[in-house]
Amino acid sequence: MARTFFVGGNFKLNGSKQSIKEIVDRLNKASLPENVEVVICPPAAYLDSTVQEVKAKQVTVGAQNVYSKASGAFTGENSVDQIKDLGAKWVILGHSERRTYFGEDDKIVAEKTKFALDNGVPVILCIGETFEEKNAGITLDVVERQLNAVIAQVKDWTNVVIAYEPVWAIGTGLAATAEDAQDIHASIRKFLAGKLGEKVASETRILYGGSANGANASSFKDKADVDGFLVGGASLKPEFVDIINSRN
Ligand code: G3H
Repeated sequence: MARTFFVGGNFKLNGSKQSIKEIVDRLNKASLPENVEVVICPPAAYLDSTVQEVKAKQVTVGAQNVYSKASGAFTGENSVDQIKDLGAKWVILGHSERRTYFGEDDKIVAEKTKFALDNGVPVILCIGETFEEKNAGITLDVVERQLNAVIAQVKDWTNVVIAYEPVWAIGTGLAATAEDAQDIHASIRKFLAGKLGEKVASETRILYGGSANGANASSFKDKADVDGFLVGGASLKPEFVDIINSRN
């Protein structure tokens, strides 16, 4: 089964009601390929309005985080039930910014992933190495450790999309080359095959994230194991449409 091209837009802590409406209007008016899945992830405060505004059938809305409990005395957290209630269809988990700034370790990411999946919300699971880890030659050890934590808790990977995001490439303008991304993605797929079987490995989409933009997206076009992108900064700009169209 062919893996559908997937483009996520992670707005991070950016935007206003007006600016996000403009992004959505642009997507609604754009000519998007039929065979693409686009998930835009605004800040939680704008999930509701974003869901209301999206008209393009290829586009759904996701959250940038959820907690591993549905409700209770957890001030400031996002609830899986509540994001579903608003119409969000996905959640990003394990992003390096959550790991670095909010202390989310592999175990927390795995618990959140399991909870979201068990409660019917598909997960964009982010993994990736830091600059120091890359230089130490331990990229694969790092991503395998991050994946192993989730594999220990999650048996059904049908609703998981992996985003390989080298931390050194995020927001720096220094994207990995398509060739390097392909090498890592192929290794991740091989690792998944060993752990979860060939079927899961061949069906799981692996996105590249880290300074993907309208100018470099098409260079990843013919890379067999790059199934799309998780886009930060460029998802706020008109070039997001170019990324979505980069497979054409
Ligand atoms: O989630 C998205 C990634 O952190 C990539 O961000 O495209 O701004 O480098 P960026």
